Amino acid sequence: MIGAATDRFLLGEFLAQWGPFARHDLSSSDSETLSLAGLLQVASAENAARWNAHGFAYTDPRGHLRLRTAIAARHDHLAADQILCCCGAQEAIYCVLQAILGPHDFARDQHALLLLPIYQPSELALQRLCEVTGIELQEADGWQPDIDRIEAAIRPETRLILMNYPNSPTGASLDPDRLDALVSLCRRHGLWLINDEIYRQTEIVQPGGRAPMLADCYERGVSINGLSKGFGLPGLRVGWIACHDRALLHHALIVKSSLSSCLAASSEILAEIALHAEPRIIATQRAIGLANLHYLRECSMGFTDLLELDQPRNLAFISCRYLGDDSAASFATRLVRDAGVLVLPTILWRSSLAPVIQDCVRLGLGHTRCRTAIEALAEAWNAIRIAA
Ligand SMILES: Cc1ncc(COP(=O)(O)O)c(C=O)c1O
Repeated sequence: MIGAATDRFLLGEFLAQWGPFARHDLSSSDSETLSLAGLLQVASAENAARWNAHGFAYTDPRGHLRLRTAIAARHDHLAADQILCCCGAQEAIYCVLQAILGPHDFARDQHALLLLPIYQPSELALQRLCEVTGIELQEADGWQPDIDRIEAAIRPETRLILMNYPNSPTGASLDPDRLDALVSLCRRHGLWLINDEIYRQTEIVQPGGRAPMLADCYERGVSINGLSKGFGLPGLRVGWIACHDRALLHHALIVKSSLSSCLAASSEILAEIALHAEPRIIATQRAIGLANLHYLRECSMGFTDLLELDQPRNLAFISCRYLGDDSAASFATRLVRDAGVLVLPTILWRSSLAPVIQDCVRLGLGHTRCRTAIEALAEAWNAIRIAA
């Protein structure tokens, strides 16, 4: 059963418990993975030669210069020394939080704001460092940051705001006007604003337009990203921190050095290859997500009494309201136990700080295998209906 949220990574526990029962996986939010051969096919001749010749010496602790240059090129005005590579996006978040908040006396002189829902490991990392106020995003407001509520929660000792846009599990992207207002607020109060942008490559741009990456629009803005989701390369373990402030990155590097010396040399070359081929890789991944989204919408006509699909906001996953009599969590458990279809109830994003959506499930869209999983979901629902 899914229990209290404090100091537990509920999503990880759910996957550990039910993953072995899953024959049809609709839980993932990453994209179709590329094979090594597939990645090398899109490499320049120079990078293919580097791949064949590379050894396994220690590399630059900040990430190979070529890799950081490729990441910086994705931003408007950042240089390679304004990027710090980490082992995945989660390590990047951990390092930047520690760099801003530690080491200090816990709870005495620091406070942070957390916009919810957010990936639980980020919440746990922050709660270990200081007092945290959670501010839940509201569906009625399109899951946008509520500037007045945020302002009211700011204290003299508040140091930062942490958020995740495009957001999981809601899929919501940040509205550009709301971002402007949030940046002005942070600037007035001298706050760091950290955004986990890991789902940016798969977002569906909404009519209001696309918000810029935080590091491109605020001098104390920190963009976290990596190759784990839209690129379909979570096994490379390449994430990064992008930020104007070199001093912050220096502190983050000291934290990172206590975790690992450097990235894997192989991952650095492959990551650089992927970044140079970004338009091609992302276009392919988005086409898979889009095809699955269309198919899900088609199939969902048959179970409108079960799930109400949210408006499409991201091609990595979609949130759906569960309309059955029991809870979304017990539906998800029954589905995987009886039919082998794995979906994630949004209660897995539960927070000890504020209520988050509980009556929804998140369905992954990023893999070609999702098509048969969607069929299995429809079949399972028909079977339940016949049995009822
Ligand atoms: C919002 C969010 N941030 C970070 C991560 C972790 O990314 P990585 O595997 O690159 O550490 C995840 C993984 O599911 C996630 O959903």
